[in-house]
Amino acid sequence: QDGDRDPGGTPTPAAARFTLGYVQTGTESVWRVAQTRSIQEAAGAANVDLVFADGQGRQQIQADAIRSLIERKVDVIAFSPVVTLGWDTVLGEAKAAGIPVVLVDRAVETGDASLYRSVLGSDYAAEGRKAGEWVVWTAGSGPVNIAELRGTTGSSVADDRSRGFTAAIAGDSRLRVVVAEPGDFTRSGGEERMRVMLARFPIDVVFAHNDDMAIGALRAIEAAGHTPGTDIRIVSVDGVRDAMTELVAGRLNYIVECSPLLGPQLMALARKVHGGETVPARVATEETTFDQNQARAALPGRRY
Ligand code: AHR
Repeated sequence: QDGDRDPGGTPTPAAARFTLGYVQTGTESVWRVAQTRSIQEAAGAANVDLVFADGQGRQQIQADAIRSLIERKVDVIAFSPVVTLGWDTVLGEAKAAGIPVVLVDRAVETGDASLYRSVLGSDYAAEGRKAGEWVVWTAGSGPVNIAELRGTTGSSVADDRSRGFTAAIAGDSRLRVVVAEPGDFTRSGGEERMRVMLARFPIDVVFAHNDDMAIGALRAIEAAGHTPGTDIRIVSVDGVRDAMTELVAGRLNYIVECSPLLGPQLMALARKVHGGETVPARVATEETTFDQNQARAALPGRRY
């Protein structure tokens, strides 16, 4: 197809094709799989040639994939860094090759802000804060023992969600985080860590950094003879269909949304970067929160 027609019938040129290399963290969660699909679908719709690589949850595999995109001379590189530190060398190689880099969903920590053009994604500290605010609102007279199921150690998202949550509950004498353990954003990690935490601590509320770990935790809570959502309340982050279904059933209590549907925004951003336009250092995604009634209303239209 050469182009679209405007309502007056004048042909308008199709958006120029360019090549975008994208390196994903892996397939650790339902959210992640939905994010991959969003990027692949949006590339097709935006006339972008996508070269996709799966980082398999490992920094070295991600760095090697970025190097092969540099060799291949793609026009723009986008990636979701599995951890925050240790990217300066490979991003320096992309910069030396003249290939602009966009970070998607997770950030890196570097002293050189010129190594990437923009970060597209959620405000993870705000997500943690919203989860903490819910715990404060629903604490009653307390005391409330909280278990935190953290995401991948060393990732910006786990650090930021934890920081936002801690700030929101700070100074409230009813609340105490009695244990915090990493579950690596997976269902099996959440289930295993929850099982161990339940054996060691009395727990009233679980803050899971994502829905997959919350669902794992819920299984461990049931296996230990408690009723999830009632004996032990659970707040998590993402808003994937499985977790929304548990929320509607009253087995999970509150979800802070984190949208994986970043594909269209990424294509627009990458196109601008490729065209030499100045782009904002940070592009945020719009998100909400769900209680049981809101989840019931949103569930039928949920795409992931
Ligand atoms: O970086 C975003 C997080 O990574 C999502 O909350 C989680 O589900 C994913 O694996």
